[in-house]
Amino acid sequence: MDKLLLPVLLGTNRKDRNSVHPAKWLVGEMQKRPEIETRLFDVSEFALPQNDYGQGLKDLFPEWRDTIIKADGLVIVTPEYNHGYPGILKAVLDLLLREYIHKAVAFVGVSAGLWGGTRVIEAMVPMVRELGLAATFSDLNFPKVQKTFDAEGKPLDPAFEKRAQDFLDELVWMSRTLKWGRENVPSKFHQSASG
Ligand SMILES: Cc1cc2nc3c(=O)[nH]c(=O)nc-3n(C[C@H](O)[C@H](O)[C@H](O)COP(=O)(O)O)c2cc1C
Repeated sequence: MDKLLLPVLLGTNRKDRNSVHPAKWLVGEMQKRPEIETRLFDVSEFALPQNDYGQGLKDLFPEWRDTIIKADGLVIVTPEYNHGYPGILKAVLDLLLREYIHKAVAFVGVSAGLWGGTRVIEAMVPMVRELGLAATFSDLNFPKVQKTFDAEGKPLDPAFEKRAQDFLDELVWMSRTLKWGRENVPSKFHQSASG
């Protein structure tokens, strides 16, 4: 079977962000799976202008644009900021639109509190729907993230390994099913094998 291209987007540029630990660790877990090709995008590396916004800027970020065009799905690693998502994460997502349609998205929620970003994920679901992404129902949650990783960036609790594999199993299923659909079921939103 073809490999699935599933990039990971780290959704905060905060100086001392803890979200970097689950993002990097998950990329490592994804790289162990033969059916997945991935790479990490970091919102802090997008030099967004202060006086413009949206799809008109997408050609300033060709790696992001071209990766999402080729991608089968996306993982968003988001911290919970006042029960919402960082503004910069929304600004990066809003660079594209049509490129996301009929692809899967899976969420990694990160928080200092007990709920592991469940509230920010709930806030993201209606927004990604407007982007044409199809959300999985298996999230990966990192509550109390500041106490969750060792110095090498590995979760202290080995249970996270099984949770990550379950999370990825669902993302792979959704991505593969939607890939088949994009290639075989006609839609005005993309080219398909049958026209
Ligand atoms: C502006 C702001 C708002 C926050 N709001 C929440 C919140 O609503 N719930 C929560 O559990 N943690 C909240 N936190 C703490 C973050 O979840 C915490 O910093 C965690 O490490 C993930 O974010 P980080 O990647 O920026 O470190 C907030 C942090 C910031 C900077």
